[in-house]
Amino acid sequence: MDDPANQPQADLLLTGISELVTPTGPGPLHGPAMSSLTQIPNAAIAVKDGHFQWIGKQADCPIQAKRTLDLGNHAVVPGLIDPHTHAVWAGDRLADFEARTSGKTYEQILAAGGGIRSTIRATAAASHEELIALAIPRLNALIASGATTIEIKSGYGFTPAAELRQLEAIQSLAALTPAHIRPTHRVHNPPSNVADRADYLSQIQQELIPEVARRKLATAVDIFVEKEAFQPAEAESILNTALTHDLAIKMHSEQFHAIGGLELALRLMALSVDHLEACTPAQHVLFAGANTIATILPGVSLHLGIPCAPGRSLIDNGAAVAVGTDLNPGSSPLFSTSAALALSIRLNGLTAAEALTAGTANAAAALGLPDAGRIEPGQPADFLVLSSSDWRDLLYPLGINSIRQVWISGNPWTPSDQQLEHEA
Ligand code: NIG
Ligand code: FE
Repeated sequence: MDDPANQPQADLLLTGISELVTPTGPGPLHGPAMSSLTQIPNAAIAVKDGHFQWIGKQADCPIQAKRTLDLGNHAVVPGLIDPHTHAVWAGDRLADFEARTSGKTYEQILAAGGGIRSTIRATAAASHEELIALAIPRLNALIASGATTIEIKSGYGFTPAAELRQLEAIQSLAALTPAHIRPTHRVHNPPSNVADRADYLSQIQQELIPEVARRKLATAVDIFVEKEAFQPAEAESILNTALTHDLAIKMHSEQFHAIGGLELALRLMALSVDHLEACTPAQHVLFAGANTIATILPGVSLHLGIPCAPGRSLIDNGAAVAVGTDLNPGSSPLFSTSAALALSIRLNGLTAAEALTAGTANAAAALGLPDAGRIEPGQPADFLVLSSSDWRDLLYPLGINSIRQVWISGNPWTPSDQQLEHEA
């Protein structure tokens, strides 16, 4: 395989990589496997047709390329994968922030018709174009922070029409950005004035989910299981409808209370259970051996001041843990995917190696992309050139961006003020 005669000419050869660091091996990485990164000093990367063609020590490189670029002794890691964002919304939650800092809780604000419900009202009042214009700088911030694949959820719509509009905005954004976008249909909160909850649920199941599946507007359905949102029995019915329509399933659960969501998600073999701040010690063992990813969101604990998800214990008990920003206006106004990983080290007890795996290979699995998030031949050439020659500088400093260049599908990314650049 390494014989140059067997290798087609690469489009680009990247040299001068102080160290290349990546998770390797198939599928989600559980427990101790989250720490075993492949590290190649003095590395080179060959790119062909937007994909990695060859990776190894520069001195061993058998590849001829049309062009060579010296990266100047900087470290390289895979492009990050943000497995959990709500990046399309209108309005703001500044009044909530004031109320919370004056003593009200997130749940009290939600129960009184504010919080998520106020964002739903503001999002309903915005046009398709406004939703896109508002989301573009948010996506640019996530990409600049290292995210080359970004999940975006709908969920700020009470009616099927409002949900579809949000999913259409996500579809338009996906066409505008070189980042890989994974759209999720989020079933967020029942309207507080719904007289008949059963009718509301059947509208979602009979109209909305079939339409989302038919128009391929999402790859998964995600439901919020919580005292103030949907109950496990309601979630089971909705998620079974999603599975019937060949959509993957995900869940926001154990954010404030453990009411049975986690056990349900594992039983239904969901792609991921996200949040877990209120996960009890008896639940930490439940992910062992499961392919369901435990996605933790340190920005929520930081912003709302709620307990931190037990990342350390979940990994010690064999879980495959992922980390995301949960970018949204209410519980996590965190616009940096690399900062989410840096926070998971401080707040959730992950090591730097585990955090990198959580933000790449395991985040990919949480999106139904079990082989992505690695620098491996055949994968899209998504990678980060760091400002430092030591990869650990990606996650050590707080408040500065340690990324010098973001490459997506073999092209360097540059933000523009008005729109997302598409160089492919
Ligand atoms: O992931 N858990 C509820 N949903 C979002 C928050 C959305 C919002 O507050 O607008 C979350 O925390
Ligand atoms: Fe969320």
